[in-house]
Amino acid sequence: MFAGLQNDRIVSVIMDRQQLIAALRWHVDIGVDEAIGAMPVDRFAAVPPPAPLVAKPAPSPRLPSTPAPSVARAQPSAAPPAPATAESVGEDAHRAASQAKSLDELRDILAAFDGCALKATATNLVFGEGNPQAPIVFIGEAPGRDEDRLGRPFVGVSGQLLDAMLSHIDLDRTSAYITNILPWRPPGNRQPTPVEVAACLPFIRRHIELIEPKVLVLLGGTAMKTLLQRQEGITRIRGRWLEYHPGGAAPQPIPTMTTYHPAFLLRQPLQKREAWRDFLSVRERLDELAETRQS
Ligand code: URA
Repeated sequence: MFAGLQNDRIVSVIMDRQQLIAALRWHVDIGVDEAIGAMPVDRFAAVPPPAPLVAKPAPSPRLPSTPAPSVARAQPSAAPPAPATAESVGEDAHRAASQAKSLDELRDILAAFDGCALKATATNLVFGEGNPQAPIVFIGEAPGRDEDRLGRPFVGVSGQLLDAMLSHIDLDRTSAYITNILPWRPPGNRQPTPVEVAACLPFIRRHIELIEPKVLVLLGGTAMKTLLQRQEGITRIRGRWLEYHPGGAAPQPIPTMTTYHPAFLLRQPLQKREAWRDFLSVRERLDELAETRQS
């Protein structure tokens, strides 16, 4: 949740330090955890939209023609812009993402892309990190507060757990690549909307196409639903090897494991046992791939 903490009204009414502290405490208590603009915006003072012009009846053609008084003519009212739909933003994003011929180009195109509203409230673009030559890519949901601040994926407490889980199967950020479905943080870590996901989907798809991993690991339900297009809950899908179908020049299906998101495991530590099984299965798959390449 967020708010302009320096709202003019508040600042002009509150005179002393105690009251400022109380106001700040109140914002924290109601769930505000970030200020999203340097300048206050008084939304109560927003200018209302102009009233539409009303057309006057046209003079009867049979009356003697006298010079018509100049009246404000009603302009055919310009149609309001159609609201963005998942389909319309998805098409724009697809056009933009498909231009990228390398990860650097994809990052630049994404940084210049204005088709996802989350960009306006995020501090940094969180693109991805790790070894793009690695055979395995891990995909989470979206940056949290720490990731947004640093512009790097999985660097907060969930990231620490992910790093620990990776190390148990002999992986780290030099032997794996890590990214997210959404490159911008949803304010207050809220669930991304379908339109926001649709605007970012072509970019993560292109990201995967450019890396061409041999194995994908989806962390949590959002990554699973978005990339595998499955409607079942994560408990039914996790632990199974399914296929992700990339587009582009390498349309070979990619073996894909879904497992629990580290943030979920922090809340439900008993589920770590299941996630551990999934990670062992991922390790086995990587070992098999390595053996096939050697033989
Ligand atoms: N959660 C995610 O899904 N991704 C991050 O980068 C951090 C937390």
